[in-house]
Amino acid sequence: MTAAPITSICCIGAGYVGGPTMAVIADQCPDVRVTVVDINQTRIDAWNDDDLSKLPVYEPGLDAVVGRARGRNLFFSTAVDEAIAAADMVFISVNTPTKTKGLGAGQASDLRWVEACARQVAKSATGHTIVVEKSTLPVRTAEAVKAILFASEQSGDGVQRSFAMLSNPEFLAEGTAIPDLELPDRVLIGGENPEAIDALASLYGRWVPQERILRTNLWSSELSKLTANAFLAQRISSINSVGALCEVTGADVREVAKAIGTDSRIGPKFLQAGPGFGGSCFQKDILNLVYLCRHFGLPDVADYWESVVHLNSWQQHRIARTVVQKLFGTVTGKRLAVLGFAFKADTNDTREAPAIRIAKDLLEEGAQLAIHDPKVNADQIARDLQLPASTEPDVESGPKGAALSGEGTWWPSENIASALKGADAVIILTEWNHYRELDWTALAPLMRQPAWVFDARSVVTPADVQSAGLRLWRVGEGQP
Ligand SMILES: NC(=O)c1ccc[n+]([C@@H]2O[C@H](COP(=O)([O-])OP(=O)(O)OC[C@H]3O[C@@H](n4cnc5c(N)ncnc54)[C@H](O)[C@@H]3O)[C@@H](O)[C@H]2O)c1
Repeated sequence: MTAAPITSICCIGAGYVGGPTMAVIADQCPDVRVTVVDINQTRIDAWNDDDLSKLPVYEPGLDAVVGRARGRNLFFSTAVDEAIAAADMVFISVNTPTKTKGLGAGQASDLRWVEACARQVAKSATGHTIVVEKSTLPVRTAEAVKAILFASEQSGDGVQRSFAMLSNPEFLAEGTAIPDLELPDRVLIGGENPEAIDALASLYGRWVPQERILRTNLWSSELSKLTANAFLAQRISSINSVGALCEVTGADVREVAKAIGTDSRIGPKFLQAGPGFGGSCFQKDILNLVYLCRHFGLPDVADYWESVVHLNSWQQHRIARTVVQKLFGTVTGKRLAVLGFAFKADTNDTREAPAIRIAKDLLEEGAQLAIHDPKVNADQIARDLQLPASTEPDVESGPKGAALSGEGTWWPSENIASALKGADAVIILTEWNHYRELDWTALAPLMRQPAWVFDARSVVTPADVQSAGLRLWRVGEGQP
């Protein structure tokens, strides 16, 4: 028996995953009506903005995809119930952050938004609905969602409804979401109902080769997503640990990474030393794995994965400490230019960005930070640092107010030259391409000498910085 074709999709959650994923599905399947719903009116308004540069998610190529499909078969709305009722397939793509209190706080995922979604689908669905977990969820979450859905099949409200449950974790990386979705390494579909699996597989099959569509049971699918992120993050912590050793032994982590990355068993990706991983997923998903391991009586396995997260925060504190040490042991009252706040290039996402922890450490030491990022706005930085922006102090007349009493302050800087004016150091924390091409000969005279460049992303050309008379620290570079 062949699966009935899907004609109407609803996605609950218009975030970094729901928005781009559904935009690409709508673009590839013009005959399928795709409605992305969210409870956040501001977010939906931004998705509907006529000016495509104002979409709430910045992703190269996303504006063109949304521009082609929006209003044709792609819709963004806050009418959650109506969209669920009209859909034959509902994706759940809501946030699943780490719990901050209660059982499993600091490790387990907070599933309150997923549960709320399941209840809403249970209430509003009509006819047969395939429910797809797109959010990253702990293993066996589908069980809980299924229990809520199947209870409503016999709810006695007179509406005929039935459900099939699938897991379809998303593997896109922010910054490359559109190419990742248009040409995925693989699409993973976990489930038990062959017709539901076929229906989702034939949707992806419009543009993804069949051999890249993998079918597993529900639990393998859920666990594969956590494991993929744990392996990727582990590579970053591994290379950062080696970078620290390079710095004290005289080796260079870029040379080591190249040497080991050419081994086909290791490969070159995810081998760049830097300020550690950020983003909303890696830390959360590993902590989730750690929680599951402890829960299932595997404390040694839990400790193994937890060390990947420890190493990451250690690296971030280490970079802040290095800045303080190189600046004669104190940054109190000193102006420092922070270049880059997003957790990686080509995104406006700052969740768990290394810049947050490093900037907070420097503020704690009383630094005055001029923060520049091409895509992150000042309100977001203030929320992340839990500190409102100050007005930019005048270099000539020196610090005022809080800065005068030795408290850390920061202000947003739209312009790199003004961020560097009077600064004792530049700290590069995001690998925006723009930072690779800075004219150090022109910038160096603006700074207070002796001045430093701390390149945590290996983006500068060392000779350019040094010939401009600046001191340079690069992550993972020892002095031979
Ligand atoms: N960001 C990534 O790179 C990435 C990659 C792969 C998987 N994931 C996973 O995908 C999921 C979503 O991540 P995200 O980055 O898109 O999150 P996000 O916070 O950007 O978006 C989630 C959206 O869901 C909305 N929402 C929450 N509860 C709702 C409800 N009951 N009804 C309607 N809308 C609701 C929120 O308002 C928010 O806009 C998470 O589980 C995450 O782990 C994220």
